[in-house]
This record gives sequence, structure tokens and C-alpha cells, in this order.
Amino acid sequence: MSGLDIAIRGVGGTVSRIAFGPLPGLTAELDTSKTVIVTDGLIRRVHGSSFPSCPVIEVERGEAAKSLASLEALYGRFLELELGRDGLVLAIGGGTVSDLAGFAASTWLRGIAFGFAPTTLLAMVDASVGGKNGVDFRGVKNLVGSFSQPRFVRMDVSLLSTLPDIEFASGMAEVVKHAVLAGGGYFDLVRAEAGGTPARRPDRESLERIVAGSARIKAEFVERDEREAGERRKLNLGHTIGHGIEAASGLPHGHSVAAGLASACRLALGLGLLAEAECDRITRLIEACGLPSSIAGAAAAAGLADGSGLRAAIARALTADKKRRGEDMLMALPEAVGSVSIRSVPIADLLSFVQEAP
Ligand SMILES: NC(=O)c1ccc[n+]([C@@H]2O[C@H](COP(=O)([O-])OP(=O)(O)OC[C@H]3O[C@@H](n4cnc5c(N)ncnc54)[C@H](O)[C@@H]3O)[C@@H](O)[C@H]2O)c1
Repeated sequence: MSGLDIAIRGVGGTVSRIAFGPLPGLTAELDTSKTVIVTDGLIRRVHGSSFPSCPVIEVERGEAAKSLASLEALYGRFLELELGRDGLVLAIGGGTVSDLAGFAASTWLRGIAFGFAPTTLLAMVDASVGGKNGVDFRGVKNLVGSFSQPRFVRMDVSLLSTLPDIEFASGMAEVVKHAVLAGGGYFDLVRAEAGGTPARRPDRESLERIVAGSARIKAEFVERDEREAGERRKLNLGHTIGHGIEAASGLPHGHSVAAGLASACRLALGLGLLAEAECDRITRLIEACGLPSSIAGAAAAAGLADGSGLRAAIARALTADKKRRGEDMLMALPEAVGSVSIRSVPIADLLSFVQEAP
């Protein structure tokens, strides 16, 4: 087993421990009389026998979980279960479950402890690490949320054996993003393990190397800049255009980010920031993971006959983006594999790019 034992020290002194370990082992480590589990119905059906014996609250599956209505329902169940200040919320699921449950816990009684047991690759390599929690509002992703670190993250890669290929590929998008950010040996590892078809998955050992590598890369950014005032913004690579694609296409988060990352590469190429060979290297890795590498590719993957509606939706999302500063957008753009910078791009140029890009 690849080692993984990361401690993220959050603002306010909270420490988040991220480690590998079997999900059933949590039973012995938690006070089950004070713990409530938040999950979705599918995960409970497939992995419920490994859950610690605590009350279980089911939320909706997928992005629908990240709504104010789900949040209110969750608060209602916390009240019924008399979840007190000494309680703990354990989110077992993908990024939607952990984003919602983390936000609910971090606001319940002004904030109680919570832990994550991620069950998707995307949640292991990204959503469970870093303390960003939240829900969507009026069609805009993550508009309402908190920075609050989970007390622990328990990574059990054996849970991924039941994950559908499309969800596995979605997680690989964030892995590719980390590979572009870190470059060097991690890019080579991911390229060696990205199977060419979604059906070929890395074996357990390789999977643990990927999860550990990505979790470490993300944790390093978070430790340097928990509140995203500077360096952490680089983790948004691919998300500026990706969020627009996700909101309008219904594609999984990672597929949208992959198309957003490839688009960011093309934008950087057009701005003279990224060499064509580097752009190709990144795009090839995205495609090797079975992910869309353009806006048109995302439209096709979503079954949208005409990509123009998608481009219009991306334009709407860009104008409402949190990273907008007046007439400019702060964007993470690659300059090479292993080098990403934050640039101010005029919104007008970005909107033209979205209309014209492949
Ligand atoms: N907080 C952060 O820093 C952060 C970072 C990246 C992404 N996110 C958020 O994460 C969300 C996406 O998360 P996700 O991709 O995990 O999606 P998800 O939570 O919707 O899970 C995807 C699907 O897989 C199913 N599933 C989960 N685990 C399974 C398993 N082991 N076996 C079989 N099926 C399983 C779920 O029921 C669901 O239908 C987005 O809302 C995104 O905004 C948050």
C-alpha cells in the first residue's frame, strides 16, 4: 500500500488527517452514538454493509444533492436526531455528498465536526481534500459555502471497484489537472496509468499511488493558501470554462473540467503562453483518459446536436463567475506541464474564444 498520511492545518488550528484505511475500520475509531452518516441511496445499497452502525441520512443522488432544499432537509434530520455540538457528521459518498454534508456540518450549531469517506475517484483526489464545502444556488455552482476542514478523510480505494467507468473517467480529469500543475514524475505516472480506454483501470497499487499523489499535490496548495487568496486559485485550472459546461450540459464534473482544461490550453496557446507541443501533450492525456478535449467534444458527449446552446450557456456562466473582476476574469492558464499561472483575461476576449474554440 502506498503511504498516505497528510495533516492539513486549517485556519483556526483545526487539523485534517488524510489517510488510507478500510471503511469498516471506522467503527472502532468513532463514537457511533454521536455520529450520523450522510450518503446517497445508491452508495448505501452497494456499500452499506461496510458502514459504521450509526443513523443514516440519505440525500439525493448527484448534483441535485447540492441544493438549499437538500440542505434544509438535512438540517431537519439533524434536529430530529438531536445532533449536538459533540456530534460528528460522516459523509460517505462522492463530491456532491461531501460538499453538502460538509457545509451542513460546518454551519450546524455554528459548526460541528465532520469526516469524509470518499467513494468516487473524484472525491478521493479532489473534493474531500481542502475544506471547501457548499451548495449551488440558482444554477450557479458552489455559490453558497464555507471553508472548513474535515476532521479526517478515510480513503479506501476498494470502494472504487463498483464505480461506473464514466465516473472513474470523471475523477481522472482532476488527476490530469494535478499532473499538469505538478509536472515531472507525477505527469509521467498518470500518463503511464491512463489506460487508453476507460475499461482498463489501474490496479490497486497504482490507484493508491495516484490517489496519494493527487491528494498530496492538492494538500500542498491548500496548506499554502487555504482561503484561495493566491496560489490555491491555480487549482481552478479548467474550471472557469468547465463550470459553464457542467451547468449547461449535465455532463459529470470531471468531463466538464477536462473540456475546460483543454480549452484553457488552447486559450494559453493563442495568447502565446503555451507551446503547441505542450498543448498537444496535455490534450492527448485528456483523450487517453476517455474524456472530452474540446467544447464541441463536450457537446457531443452530452448528446447536444448543436453546440451553440452550450456556448451560450458557458458565456452566461462566465459573466456570473466568482472569479470575475470587473471586465476581466482571473484564470489559471498553463504555461508548460508543471507550470501554471494566474492571468487576468478580458471577459470580452474570453467570450469570443468560447464562440470560436473547437
Ligand atoms: N469541495 C471541493 O473542493 C470539490 C472539488 C472538486 C469537485 N467538487 C464537487 O464534487 C461534485 C462531483 O462529485 P462526484 O464526481 O464524486 O459525483 P457524485 O457525488 O455525484 O457521484 C457520482 C455518482 O456515482 C455514484 N457513486 C458514488 N460512489 C460510488 C461507488 N463507489 N460505486 C458506485 N457508484 C458510486 C453516486 O451515487 C453518483 O450517482 C461536484 O458537485 C463538484 O462541484 C468539490
